Amino acid sequence: MNVYDSGRMGDVLAHHGYSLTGDADDADMVIVNTCHIREKAAEKLYSELGRFRIMKDARQAAGKTTLIAVAGCVAQAEGAEIMARAPFVDIVLGPQTYHRLPELIARAERTAASGSGVMDIEFPPESKFDHLPDAAVTSATAFLTIQEGCDKFCTFCVVPYTRGAEYSRPTSQIVAEARRLTAAGAAEITLLGQNVNAYRDADTGAGLGRLIRTLGEIDGLARLRYMTSHPADMDDDLIAAHGEIDKLMPFLHLPVQSGSDAVLARMNRRHRIDDYRRVIERLMAARGDLKLSSDFIVGFPGESDKDFDATLELATGIGFIQAYSFKYSPRPGTPAAAMTGQVPDTLKSERLAALQDVLAASQRAFNEGCDGRVMAVLFDRAGRKGGQLVGRSPYMQPVHVMAPASLMGHVTDIVITEAGANSLGGELAAGADGTEINQRRISA
Ligand code: 5AD
Ligand code: SF4
Repeated sequence: MNVYDSGRMGDVLAHHGYSLTGDADDADMVIVNTCHIREKAAEKLYSELGRFRIMKDARQAAGKTTLIAVAGCVAQAEGAEIMARAPFVDIVLGPQTYHRLPELIARAERTAASGSGVMDIEFPPESKFDHLPDAAVTSATAFLTIQEGCDKFCTFCVVPYTRGAEYSRPTSQIVAEARRLTAAGAAEITLLGQNVNAYRDADTGAGLGRLIRTLGEIDGLARLRYMTSHPADMDDDLIAAHGEIDKLMPFLHLPVQSGSDAVLARMNRRHRIDDYRRVIERLMAARGDLKLSSDFIVGFPGESDKDFDATLELATGIGFIQAYSFKYSPRPGTPAAAMTGQVPDTLKSERLAALQDVLAASQRAFNEGCDGRVMAVLFDRAGRKGGQLVGRSPYMQPVHVMAPASLMGHVTDIVITEAGANSLGGELAAGADGTEINQRRISA
């Protein structure tokens, strides 16, 4: 989501005379887009800001001004603290106000001389999506935010506070944006939302399954994905869509967080392990080749050895082909931060290592099972070696292939010849030429 948001801020600024620079020393403005989900991510901000302060001072000595902005969820949650701790910051803006950047810049330029920054961490009545310019398409794979915010209030999570209440964009707006992205060269669109499968069009009541069916009709769009989903919001229509829409890739990120019902209850996850297993069964019945990835938190308050063993057992049994796992990080203002039974860091580290061993083994096993198979790969970037392209399999595995540049942006059949821990290597399958690929892009 932050990658998408950063891109959209770039789109806003492109209309106001700014362009991207790869060199911060050369920047008239630096925006640090932040994440508040875990303490480590939030702490990074202050070390980054220290670096930019030095840069700002050096540029000032050379007679150049630099605006420093802090955006995103740390700004939303700790705006006043940032202003106090880093008074050289000119602009603080939350995730819901980046369409107001031009006006904030103008205000900051006026007040810069007095040394006071400007802050906008409102949840404005207007939707930023109604005020943003078109998103630039820079790759064959694009993101499209369809939903924001979360009403679930898991007890460990800051998202409901920093991103606010659930909001779904109107279907008509999403379809128009998807058509435009496709016309501009996107062959794959990932629909984004903090709780994306809670999507509901305010006018028609249509959910994510319906939206996917509509988007599936766009000519030239080859692939659709969505993330991140909540297990309790996997409704029948969405599950059915997995079986009916070929463009919907057979890979789903469905975080379970823990394998213990007792922990899930304290996390306020609103589902039990049985419910999670049943959702997977229904998904598999709709689409037999579907694979899953998940997020896990270890060391949640009160997590016993037995609870953790249940997580290991679940991870082993389901065989996620990819996963993110984290040590529980107490976040200010969330209920879990005040719970008794906080787990010592050393134990969290031990559990994380044990879980990551299991998760890495199932990822490796899946990758090795791909060796020798033909997989449809969408090339979306150049490889490090000359003449090499890198693309994604249906399961999001990066696939490295020696292939002509003309295949960039196209889905093509690749014979997998190498399987690593995190990526695959392959060769063009016999008969895979541009003509056939173009046809596939239109039809699949
Ligand atoms: N501590 C550790 N991990 C967290 N996540 C969210 N909040 C916390 C926290 N306080 C993880 C969850 C979520 C992912 C985006 O980040 O696993 O699914
Ligand atoms: Fe956070 Fe996801 Fe829970 Fe919402 S559903 S509170 S975003 S972990």
